Amino acid sequence: MEKREQLYEGKAKKVFATDDETLVIVSYKDDATAFDGLKKGTIAGKGVVNNRMTNMLMQLLEKRGVPTHFVKELSERETLVKKVHIVPLEVIIRNVSAGSFAKRYGVEEGIPFDEPTIEFSYKNDDLHDPLINSYHAIALHLATKEEIELIKKYAFKVNEVLKEYFLALNVKLIDFKLEFGKTAEGDLVLADEISPDTCRFWDARTGEKLDKDRFRRDLGGVEDAYKEIFHRVTGE
Ligand code: TMP
Repeated sequence: MEKREQLYEGKAKKVFATDDETLVIVSYKDDATAFDGLKKGTIAGKGVVNNRMTNMLMQLLEKRGVPTHFVKELSERETLVKKVHIVPLEVIIRNVSAGSFAKRYGVEEGIPFDEPTIEFSYKNDDLHDPLINSYHAIALHLATKEEIELIKKYAFKVNEVLKEYFLALNVKLIDFKLEFGKTAEGDLVLADEISPDTCRFWDARTGEKLDKDRFRRDLGGVEDAYKEIFHRVTGE
């Protein structure tokens, strides 16, 4: 597999072409941003944690029937994935109130829900990723009705699998964000990453935050939190 030109650089990752037009290489950076890129920083070692954790979780999800873009881990920071067209929706599942949910509805963080919730944000930096409902997403041709149904089915399945997986590691999965993509063959697959950047993880005993909220909220111990969640997942 030959690495070719850079196709794209995002806030946390770069994407490179390969000699196979159906495959790309994702390279994870240590750069961190929050609040639409307003807050910028570096989290030493984050790229390694996010790459390896994402790959472990994607392989687990594949086994449990959720198709993903994952092909092969190439190094600590680089992974070969299927090239997809990203559906421009952030798909957010919540088990417990936190973050923008708590703020929007004026409730405390930490209230467990009877049933998980789902919401979508329109991935559009100029508009600051506004909340969008599925009817509006279909009207804007961001996804078809069938794709939205499949995205919901996969997202709740991901939640079932990961909630149980993390609880066994003494971690509560509070909420998380997923992105889906369409392959050249038209298959809908889970893409992007599943990491402390995109999930809220609270220690099941102490409630300690083991995710990017430590960076967003200036709580300190950011690197240690990434190391701790990585340790629980990989044993390393
Ligand atoms: P929120 O409560 O700020 O809406 O975040 C919900 C979840 O989505 C949380 O686990 C963090 C994740 N998230 C992202 O992955 N990217 C983002 O840009 C934002 C705002 C949240």
